[in-house]
Amino acid sequence: MKFFVDTADVAEIRELANASLLDGVTTNPSLIKKADRPMKDIIAEICDIVDGPVSAEVTATEASEMVREGKILAAIADNVCIKLPLTMDGLKACNELTGEGFLVNVTLCFSAVQALLAAKAGATFISPFIGRLDDINLDGMELIADIRRIYDNYGFDTEILAASIRTMNHVREAALIGADVATVPPATLRGLVKHPLTDKGLETFLADWKATGQTIA
Ligand code: E4P
Repeated sequence: MKFFVDTADVAEIRELANASLLDGVTTNPSLIKKADRPMKDIIAEICDIVDGPVSAEVTATEASEMVREGKILAAIADNVCIKLPLTMDGLKACNELTGEGFLVNVTLCFSAVQALLAAKAGATFISPFIGRLDDINLDGMELIADIRRIYDNYGFDTEILAASIRTMNHVREAALIGADVATVPPATLRGLVKHPLTDKGLETFLADWKATGQTIA
């Protein structure tokens, strides 16, 4: 499973990339608002840090405008992945942009049939939002499982990018189902390495080692 980080915070991305934890990055207009800097600068900086796909979202709602904006974003760097919303216009733009060889991430997916349409439109990635479904008492993980089954049934190579991840358990379950990628907020990504028994065990090992008086020279 590949790990993307879901943030527009360049300092966070640099730190996680230094720890070799990142296969890519996803951003969205809300994350850009939070970063409070020009989007093109942010995307250019991220693309310098990370070799993998960096999703940058269009804000037009009509297909030809989405294509125009998408191409502007893609011109920033070779690894920009154009993010398009899952609407009729978004699918139309997806078809056109992937036909021309651009990377496309179709976002805001909340149903298996939406994911089927995105794959038919040639999407590179489909982003089903787990947490936002859980928020309204639906089962986000069931959606991941349905999409996995449908894509395998028909041999689609669109990658399932599990999004709107809130917990470590979301990552675990998405991996068990076979999602290709998880895009994870920085704090959750850091949390994946932690376990209290690891900390406790290390503490004991270090104390016992010190008591031996030995060194590894
Ligand atoms: C995905 O690409 C989205 O940016 C993201 O995962 C949305 O997550 P949220 O529901 O926590 O805002």
